[in-house]
Amino acid sequence: MAHPTSSSPARHPAPGRQLTEELSPPQTTCERHLETLLQVIRAIGGTLDAPVLFQRVMQHLTAAFGADRSSLFLHDPRRGELVSCVAQGLEGEGLRLPDHAGLCGHVFHSREPLLIEDALADDRFDREVSRRTRYTPRAMLLAPLAPRPGPAIGVMQVMDQRPGHFRPDDLSLLEAIAVPVGITCENARLYLAQRRQFSSFVRAFSAALDARDPCTQIHSINVANYAVGMAISMGLDRSVQEWLRVAGLLHDVGKIGTPESILTKPGRLSEAEFEEMKRHAAHSRRILAEIDFTDAYAGMAWIAAAHHEKLDGSGYPDGLRGAEIPLEARILCVADIYDALTQKRHYREGMSHERALEVIDGMTPAQLDPACVAALRSFLGAGIEAPPPNPAAG
Ligand SMILES: [Fe+2]
Ligand SMILES: [Fe+2]
Repeated sequence: MAHPTSSSPARHPAPGRQLTEELSPPQTTCERHLETLLQVIRAIGGTLDAPVLFQRVMQHLTAAFGADRSSLFLHDPRRGELVSCVAQGLEGEGLRLPDHAGLCGHVFHSREPLLIEDALADDRFDREVSRRTRYTPRAMLLAPLAPRPGPAIGVMQVMDQRPGHFRPDDLSLLEAIAVPVGITCENARLYLAQRRQFSSFVRAFSAALDARDPCTQIHSINVANYAVGMAISMGLDRSVQEWLRVAGLLHDVGKIGTPESILTKPGRLSEAEFEEMKRHAAHSRRILAEIDFTDAYAGMAWIAAAHHEKLDGSGYPDGLRGAEIPLEARILCVADIYDALTQKRHYREGMSHERALEVIDGMTPAQLDPACVAALRSFLGAGIEAPPPNPAAG
């Protein structure tokens, strides 16, 4: 018998219902699972925002298993608890469980997945959770998030009120999906830890600098807050706001090389002393150039160190003019001047808000960017909470 060809009757479906069935045959369990797996992998690749990602993954799972709801818990080792990142049906309420309690606790510690036909017939089932959530599951699927050897980092569970709703191959699918989800959780955790570490380093660095002089002890924090507020007023991107926050905290780091006798001199600086003070901008550039900033903070060394440059070329350290001065440096310049004017110095009292703005207006547009000055006014007038006053200003 000849093999069917493209024109053979075997390749041509019958009309009507048969045509529909042949074009869209019912999916086998294997095909459904493969499709769910692909949806989850697409969801993982579609966003870097971990909470959004977890929500999407759990929505796919609930739909794929025809289940009532699903949850994803991550372990908080400091408190010994499993904390819900996604708890469908509990929107707005977080759920914290002791990490040894119930079926979740069992899966977390054993690192073994579980298929439960009827939770009410299982001694390990924690009825207290049902009472708190006002939901009693009967059938359950649970899988550990265990992306590396050692303790698990969380648990995924899918639930339904119909006993025996899930099958063994459903558990295999959940187990397979738990692998990329676990790796994503671990990456998100490491990324957050790295960011916290970087932020704490920046804060500690700027606090150590500001602590050298009681008159400027929160100058860096104030400049960071004003600069971020101005960026918000100007509609600049969140990434620019974050860049300015770090630059504000670190802009005067070069003062670490300025003699204390100049920094805290109770009177006006002599010309020679002022020249020495001005060197802090170049020192900032050299110090910040030693830090291996990621792409998100590109240009930090030379832009942050340009916070004393003026549009007419009268600034320092390089006497840049007009468009040679990056926007971020122009924002920092206005923020820096406003804070310096309004805070007490060793040789004068801090100016009032109104007087400081008059001085700034007098420097605009020759030295200061009018758009940045307008952004400062907008930020200060918008009722957004201004940074706290310098306690040393008394
Ligand atoms: Fe400075
Ligand atoms: Fe400054």
